[in-house]
Amino acid sequence: MGGSITSSARADMIVTEGVQPWEICGECHGLDGVSPVARFPSLAGQRPAYIVKQVRDFRDGRRANDGGQMAANASDIGEADIAKAAAYFSALLPPAPMSSDLQ
Ligand code: HEC
Repeated sequence: MGGSITSSARADMIVTEGVQPWEICGECHGLDGVSPVARFPSLAGQRPAYIVKQVRDFRDGRRANDGGQMAANASDIGEADIAKAAAYFSALLPPAPMSSDLQ
């Protein structure tokens, strides 16, 4: 197929082999943890414990406000990889505030 690299954020096309756990999350949440799409919350700078809890809550059905996208991902990822992804995103710089007009 020519070997070209294509990128896609469709949940059913995410390749999970040979990639770091946060690269999977980055397909939706942004690899720098700053999401370009309002539908996907930014993860950069969030506390690791918060990220881990949300992922577990989606996985275990305690949180389900995302149309099933997180549950599909969270059920594929092991506890060790959840912790790795949480550590990765928490270490990144959080996004700047949306607007200073709100003050
Ligand atoms: C297919 C897209 C997609 C992928 C891949 C994905 N997420 Fe999400 N994630 C979402 C959506 C959608 C929400 C819910 C947004 C909302 O609450 O409105 C969400 C919510 C979250 C939240 C809650 C954030 C908050 O402040 O409420 C965390 C934490 C999170 N995801 C972490 C992860 C991690 C870690 C991974 C990788 C293991 C991951 N996500 C992979 C789409 C995705």
